[in-house]
Amino acid sequence: SEIVDFYGEHQAGITTPQQNSLVFAAFDVADSVTTQQLEVMLARWAAAASLLTQGKPVGPVETRPGSPPADTGEAFDLGPNKLTITVGFGPTLFDDRFGLRDKMPAALKPLGQLAVDTTIDPSISGGDICVQACSEDPQVAFHAVRNLARIGRTVVTLRWLQEGFGRASATSTSQVTPRNLFGFKDGTANIKAEDPSVAKEWVWVGDETDQPWMKGGSYLVSRKIRMHIEAWDSDDIGNQELIFGRTKDNGAPLSGGSEFTTIDFHKRLDTGKYAVDRFSHVRLAHPDNNGGAQILRRGYNYTDGIDTRTGTLAAGLFFIAYQKNAHEQFVRIQNNLAQDGLNEYIAPISSSLFAVPPGLSKIGDWYGKTLF
Ligand code: HEM
Repeated sequence: SEIVDFYGEHQAGITTPQQNSLVFAAFDVADSVTTQQLEVMLARWAAAASLLTQGKPVGPVETRPGSPPADTGEAFDLGPNKLTITVGFGPTLFDDRFGLRDKMPAALKPLGQLAVDTTIDPSISGGDICVQACSEDPQVAFHAVRNLARIGRTVVTLRWLQEGFGRASATSTSQVTPRNLFGFKDGTANIKAEDPSVAKEWVWVGDETDQPWMKGGSYLVSRKIRMHIEAWDSDDIGNQELIFGRTKDNGAPLSGGSEFTTIDFHKRLDTGKYAVDRFSHVRLAHPDNNGGAQILRRGYNYTDGIDTRTGTLAAGLFFIAYQKNAHEQFVRIQNNLAQDGLNEYIAPISSSLFAVPPGLSKIGDWYGKTLF
């Protein structure tokens, strides 16, 4: 079906088979907004999101002569296109403004500066509230974010916005593994929707939380990672494969087999070296080297045109990961990746953490119901 169910135990857009387009927006709540105004806006967003995900406009078009139409209109003929809208709350929402200080989960502590974080731009990081809109049609995703921003315009201001033009992960075994901008299959060893027990263990917040309002939710990490495409494109194929630990052609591990063959990290070549290099991305990121930790990756390829100072492509991966606890999962893996051979070719330029509350149960439910 073209419609992804909006209501459910968990918000859609996490284990939903990953759609091909992303528009991700972070908002700040404007100064002087009251708690009640914020609550009303979140309720209006929920009502609008339920309509948008069914491919319907957010309001009637011609019922108020002499005033602007309720819906902006650019998605009228496009259908739902598997639109999902996923809303999260940033650490800054829990300061003194809305009386939420006691509701701040320990797991929402900001990520801080990680070992590889020498080039993070704060103006495209963080925010009080985030909206992840994913769809098979980029205009449908854009329309959703635009109309939510419009509905919220007296309450929130856009802080930053990121488009993604192609999925760089797979979240379902029904999907072909796509490729990232370095040309490698990405998402092979990801958490897949067909294994709910793995998602329960690693993605969904459970009884372990200090904040019951987050049960059934998840923590979203976003990292905009610039990829030095031209440098990569002049690296030889042997080194490219060594860096990832997989072949470029079919994504098979360098220890042998085909794409989904289990990686044999012990296998050695005749030279005595490991078939899957000690500093390869898959070895350092693998659960065996991270105390078992897994994350659900849901990133997108992006481009911002060119870097006019150098004439090089300003493109890369808008990395998104969902997990039960980002400090124990994403941060642990990212710290291990501090020695990743890939680091020579990439640079993170934004970093954010959001608490994504559980799903909405029915019409009338809203994003802050378990929180306020
Ligand atoms: C695996 C690319 C950043 C975590 C992979 C694979 C590729 C890849 C090609 C192998 C196929 C697969 O299993 O999906 C990239 C690129 C990145 C990037 C191009 C940056 C531009 C990251 C970051 C993290 C991460 C920041 C988390 C901190 C993982 C994990 C795996 C993986 C957990 C699976 C490892 C396994 O169990 O085999 N990545 N990645 N990656 N990556 Fe990344």
